[in-house]
Amino acid sequence: MAAARKSIHGEWSSRWVFILAATGSAVGLGSIWRFPYVTGENGGGAFVLIYLLCVAAVGLPIMMAETLIGRRGRQSPINSLKTLAKEEGLSSNWQFLGWLGVLAGFIVLSFYSVVAGWAVAYIFYVGGGAFAEASVDMSGAQFDALTGSAWRMLGWHSLFMLTTVVIVARGVKGGLEQAVKWLMPALFVLLVVVVGYAMSIGDVGAAIDYLFTPDFSQVTRSSVLAALGQAFFSLSLGMGAIMIYGSYLPASASIPKTIGLVAICDTLVALLAGLAIFPLVFGFGLEPGSGAGLVFVSLTIAFGHMPGGQVFGALFFALLSVAALTSAISLLEPIAAWLVEAMHWSRRRASSVAGLGAWLLGVGSLLSFNYWSHIKPFGRNFFEWSEFLSTTVMLPVGGLLVATFAGWRMSRASTLDELGLPPGVFYSAWRFLVRIVAPLGVLVILLNSLDVIG
Ligand code: PHE
Repeated sequence: MAAARKSIHGEWSSRWVFILAATGSAVGLGSIWRFPYVTGENGGGAFVLIYLLCVAAVGLPIMMAETLIGRRGRQSPINSLKTLAKEEGLSSNWQFLGWLGVLAGFIVLSFYSVVAGWAVAYIFYVGGGAFAEASVDMSGAQFDALTGSAWRMLGWHSLFMLTTVVIVARGVKGGLEQAVKWLMPALFVLLVVVVGYAMSIGDVGAAIDYLFTPDFSQVTRSSVLAALGQAFFSLSLGMGAIMIYGSYLPASASIPKTIGLVAICDTLVALLAGLAIFPLVFGFGLEPGSGAGLVFVSLTIAFGHMPGGQVFGALFFALLSVAALTSAISLLEPIAAWLVEAMHWSRRRASSVAGLGAWLLGVGSLLSFNYWSHIKPFGRNFFEWSEFLSTTVMLPVGGLLVATFAGWRMSRASTLDELGLPPGVFYSAWRFLVRIVAPLGVLVILLNSLDVIG
């Protein structure tokens, strides 16, 4: 069965490398940039609690499902689903679920690289002292100057995408594995340093209170949905990223234990990112609910006024860039692997072509901040359309179909075998979550975000 099939792309050296790689995929702009500001917009503690519940009840079972599909298929998401559908006697149309994931990942990569480019640029801006004694207006102007200049953004976007392509071109063991082995410990050290700095200099009490004292009067239905959506994006679900990483997981590794650890690490990093950001936000009297600009516009003001802010601010953006890079490689890998399988291209060629395509699409996104900002078919610019279609529509649809495939269409025997669990309470709990709870949860986010229910 699974142990008999081998991936032509290689295998991680151990389950620990998979844990590093999958945590690297999960921890990214979503955990460090998005989680704090979404928490801020949704009132803090109670949102955090609901988020944790969503990770456990919806995220975790779907993540296990993706991993088991990947490991059993041992190919790119498209071909893994094709193979498994055939083995289970199902329609070959299931391969379109693989297509959906790969396409969604391609679109996410295109704009992800643009935003990651901002993080890279900010290492130099903050480190170079651009925010020393900055006022709110100055900080906003700095951000507008970057997004207003298509050329500057093009430079950072190209640099980021090129780095991603180089890593993926070097293969599973020589590229991805090496990258995560160096970058993940670096990420951890940077995180600890930045959290330590924020706690020693900011208002820790207020931050802890804000993050961990739930105030349920702040909870609305939209915050529940935001928590579910955030859990999904943060765990890298619905895009084939975890599926392809699962296809390189050694057969002997226990999926539930491994994935449990990945979800715990991702959640810890998101909480630590909160502990890096909110002490500064409160210590400096900033507004926690200021939205997507929280990190780039608000936090930089704090760095500009605090002792050592120039150095630690630069380290913070280095952290964000590294986190984004280990996520970006997991978005490029499924496409590159498929091109290698289907076209028999070399890895180098496959990753260059896929990276070039995503780069080109990303140019559309970066132009939406300047030259194309007035082009808004149906109320959204190119960047907003890319984000909406991939993360709001394709990602939950993908997750729903993954849950359906693993929970309802694959046989009980296959999933039992692949998860490596004894028949019993744990397996039954997983099956219940993946068949009932996760699909219902995802369906609700989807219908709500498409304004079918509002
Ligand atoms: N999980 C990543 C983040 O938090 C984003 C991502 C989504 C990466 C889907 C890969 C696949 O930034």
